[in-house]
Amino acid sequence: MAEKLPCHDTSSDEDSSDDDVSNELLRQLLQLKIGADKSNTDQEDLPKVLEELSVDGIVKYIKAGKATKIITMAGAGISTSAGIPDFRSPGTGLYDNLEEYNLPSPQSVFDIEYFKEHPEPFFKLAKSLWPKDKKFQPTVCHRFIKLLHVKGLLLRHYTQNIDSLERSAGLPEELLIEAHGTFHTSHCTSCSKTYSQEFIEGEMAKDSIPTCTDCNHVVKPDIVFFGENLPSKFFTHVQSDFEHCNLLIIMGTSLTVQPFARLIDRVPKTCPRLLINLEKVGVSSGSGLDFLSRILSGVQSGGLDFDSEKAYRDVAILGTCDEGCESLANALGWKDDMDKLSTEGTTRPESGPEENSTNKL
Ligand code: OAD
Ligand code: ZN
Repeated sequence: MAEKLPCHDTSSDEDSSDDDVSNELLRQLLQLKIGADKSNTDQEDLPKVLEELSVDGIVKYIKAGKATKIITMAGAGISTSAGIPDFRSPGTGLYDNLEEYNLPSPQSVFDIEYFKEHPEPFFKLAKSLWPKDKKFQPTVCHRFIKLLHVKGLLLRHYTQNIDSLERSAGLPEELLIEAHGTFHTSHCTSCSKTYSQEFIEGEMAKDSIPTCTDCNHVVKPDIVFFGENLPSKFFTHVQSDFEHCNLLIIMGTSLTVQPFARLIDRVPKTCPRLLINLEKVGVSSGSGLDFLSRILSGVQSGGLDFDSEKAYRDVAILGTCDEGCESLANALGWKDDMDKLSTEGTTRPESGPEENSTNKL
């Protein structure tokens, strides 16, 4: 079930009422809504967007010059090979490794209300994840995203990550939407004075809670906590970007946190969607149902559909993001370009988060 950053999320993704009457009303409303949108959701009318529903189909689509406005959407899985653990991978994910902090729930460490009362666990965790002497390097996957930009094909990169590795990879600021904020800058929680990453790192190195030099309140990195709004840049660009997208590439995310996860449904129906991830995610429970069944069951449409009879534009490369990006680049004849972009210290593709997440808590 999707998690939400509740403050700004007003969707009805998880509507579930015990009241039958309310359910019925809701279903009727849904029927009206879907009925009105029927021309958009019926797939029979859609042109064939991929020659074949496979990675080859995606490669041909790009080679044919049809992917001129690519949007990449990323999560923690694109950085695990750099040594930064993700959140939800069993065993290695952050949320499985927070016992020592005695939190009400694993997510509390990123909860703004909890942070206001108890900033210590967050800074202790941040210190263990970003030790001062360790500089994380962008991965092959980050380099691939940069290459899409160099080739003039990248409309925008949307990331949930706060590790700034897209910046380190050299992606220009205007192409980058850090949906969950960044560690790059920080602000005083009271007077909003701006602080640098170096300031925060310096304080964390001393095991002290960063406080404002003007008013003595806690200084918080500009990352989005549960209960906080996403940056306005996110909303303004989502409005204009997604309707123009002609290839969506989703990488290294469980697609569990809203509103980010829902972005996959904002591209046109004719836009192919490529998932590069260890596992299939974002699959709609209603994807195998026809129009009438969706209305009658009340199951919403949307989500990725790789396998149903109606699947026509979603393709998955299951494996690490690095391997997936490297094989895609090779198939596109971009190997030399990838090599050219290679910088000293960029990680090589490896086999998975268990072995790669060296920075366990
Ligand atoms: P998750 O940990 O939820 O999901 C990571 C996904 O990447 C999983 O599906 C993994 O199987 C996959 N994965 C891990 N390593 C991989 C690799 N090397 N190659 C390919 N796939 C890999 O991380 P996010 O989806 O980014 O928000 O989590 C979303 C948000 O939840 C975060 O931004 C954070 C968290 O709570 C806040 O803190 C506000
Ligand atoms: Zn202050």
